[in-house]
Amino acid sequence: MAIATRLTQRLGIAHPILSAPMAFAAGGALAAAVSNAGGLGFIGGGYGDEPWLETQFRAAGNASVGCGFITWSMAQQPHLLDAALAHKPRAIFLSFADPTPYVAKIKDAGVLAIQQVQTRRDAEIAIACGCDIIVAQGAEAGGHGEKRATMTLVPEIADLIAQRAPATLLCAAGGVADGRGLAAALMLGADGAVVGSRLWASSEALVHANLHAAALAATGDDTVRQTVTDIARGYDWPERYTIRVVRNAYVDAWLGREHAMRDAGQPERDRYAAGVSAANPAIAAAIAGEAAGLIHAIEPAGVIVAKMVAEAEGLLRRGPKIAGR
Ligand SMILES: Cc1cc2nc3c(=O)[nH]c(=O)nc-3n(C[C@H](O)[C@H](O)[C@H](O)COP(=O)(O)O)c2cc1C
Repeated sequence: MAIATRLTQRLGIAHPILSAPMAFAAGGALAAAVSNAGGLGFIGGGYGDEPWLETQFRAAGNASVGCGFITWSMAQQPHLLDAALAHKPRAIFLSFADPTPYVAKIKDAGVLAIQQVQTRRDAEIAIACGCDIIVAQGAEAGGHGEKRATMTLVPEIADLIAQRAPATLLCAAGGVADGRGLAAALMLGADGAVVGSRLWASSEALVHANLHAAALAATGDDTVRQTVTDIARGYDWPERYTIRVVRNAYVDAWLGREHAMRDAGQPERDRYAAGVSAANPAIAAAIAGEAAGLIHAIEPAGVIVAKMVAEAEGLLRRGPKIAGR
């Protein structure tokens, strides 16, 4: 038994699940584990670090995986795209800037071009430049994102795709952490789901146990979209994007005082970096989304994928009870 969608057919994969290319957390081992479990796994190229990227492609071994980048950052060292393409990834997953300058190069290399979007306007741009797959990301998501909710963004973009580019595939991202989320994503008109936070909480993710513990202890209420974490890391993110993390003492101390935090400058950034080095969960951010409230164990990625698919299959087969049936 399997859930067959346009995504599984086009990619030749068993399950309609892509793992999110989570910067620093999604290395080759996680990407390979997801691909070996029947989805498509992604290395989180993030801000771009060539030696790290090479190490992670090696760690993925022979598994067919993709690679993602934070586009505005990759644009500052565009050779990274060539470095990733040299590994013949299954797909390149771009996010957080206009993908137009890169799509032709990706497709000419015989690689699928994926663009994650946060608004309908962004989806129009992704369609216009010929992306193969659009990922509609709702604000529930862990990590960077914007304001729209998965529940309305996905069907709105499904309608747009049906109208303007019916061959383009659509994935939902933001809050998919179990079979209910996967089934819901398909019902909303997506061909598959991108799973971030749930796979961040896997044994293969490059995440310290202290931060895993912080996310396990959290509910969805305990996460917040904010900019404190980026100021602390010295990242110059475009203003429209915020990052959802599990609240901790550090975030609470600076939330609403971001100007003062910028004024505090390098010493404050050093304090944060020291907290990260020590994996101190009162300082370092556990980057997880509202799905934190649905995550109760750190498990191998293959187990997470298998459970998610089995639960979704059961729900889709049974469906909700309809009176008179
Ligand atoms: C720890 C973490 C790091 C992330 N890093 C990136 C990234 O580097 N590039 C990117 O496109 N998306 C990144 N994301 C967002 C994911 O692509 C995806 O939209 C999100 O995880 C989906 O929502 P979920 O966390 O509820 O599953 C990250 C998410 C998390 C949780």
